[in-house]
Amino acid sequence: MKKSCKILALPGDGIGPEIMESALEVLKAVEKKYNVNFEIKEGLIGGAAIDETGNPLPEETLKLAKESDAVLLAAVGGEKWDNLPTDKRPEKGLLRIRKELDLFANLRPGKAYDALLDASPLKESLIKGVDLLVIRELTGGIYFGEPRGIEERNGEKVGFNTMVYSEHEVERIARLAFNVARNRRKKVTSVDKANVLEVSGLWREVVNKVWADYQDVELEHMYVDNAAMQLVRRPKDFDVIVTGNLFGDIISDEAGALTGSLGMLPSASLGEKYALYEPVHGSAPDIAGKGIANPVAMVLSAAMMLEHSCKLPEAARDIEKAVEKALNDGYRTGDIWQPGTKKVNTKEMTQAIIERL
Ligand code: IPM
Ligand code: MN
Repeated sequence: MKKSCKILALPGDGIGPEIMESALEVLKAVEKKYNVNFEIKEGLIGGAAIDETGNPLPEETLKLAKESDAVLLAAVGGEKWDNLPTDKRPEKGLLRIRKELDLFANLRPGKAYDALLDASPLKESLIKGVDLLVIRELTGGIYFGEPRGIEERNGEKVGFNTMVYSEHEVERIARLAFNVARNRRKKVTSVDKANVLEVSGLWREVVNKVWADYQDVELEHMYVDNAAMQLVRRPKDFDVIVTGNLFGDIISDEAGALTGSLGMLPSASLGEKYALYEPVHGSAPDIAGKGIANPVAMVLSAAMMLEHSCKLPEAARDIEKAVEKALNDGYRTGDIWQPGTKKVNTKEMTQAIIERL
């Protein structure tokens, strides 16, 4: 019998539908080459879901997600919904699906492609060879902590959020980080703000405890402000970076920009039972509908899905190699274009990748 993998595709908003189309075409090519079968269903999330149902994460979408082997998500959000209260915004759909599926670990690789060294804001000597992985805790921290809100105190409005981590939340993400590091260069940098925040003090304590089981892996602790600086000064020194939700959000954008463009960066969000794959970048409303978005982050997210959820690691490697070949052959979308390379649109970039598969 043909191997099969059940996938829920969530195109979402902005450039989402355009880049999702690219990923689905690449998956079609993989189906033929590997004689596998992808059962793909489509669902609503974000602004698109708000427009149809009034809810950024309809029950139907959540149900379909739970029936799938993996969720492939493009992007959510856009100006049209920017004036809604935080609780009703497209982003809430994304935050809720992460939480409902208990996707506590977000893996965001930052890899410097030789063909794109010129696109990095850093000098070539600093960026060449960078290969790091941000592991961001995704279902806790200040994103979800209670109490939260805006209320009236002493005649003025006060806004507040709470950064909370419990031992088990830190333990499971730390364990995952050490396990992943074992298959890489065996170094973990844990990023926190332990000189100021109690929650970071506990984070450090738990990470140290877990480390006892991983003495073959090197561990260093770094304050988040210092980490932000070291990332631009000596990015090659990082292997696995493990950190909380908010710090990880910030650091992963920084790590992304270092390697050229956010348009290149995929991510995997993993839990015990479910998994979701999405680009690190957002819905890019400014270029939505123009057909010029970079599909690479989306296509590489599909590759991560094939590896982690569909158990097709060779197909994942093939896609990564095809992307690299397309770059080496000079194909560039606008965000990574440099004089002397071929400027292509979303569809052409997708074709260039598929031809090299
Ligand atoms: C990301 C995004 C989201 C986040 C937003 C859209 C809610 O910035 O995936 O990094 O902050 O997690
Ligand atoms: Mn972000």
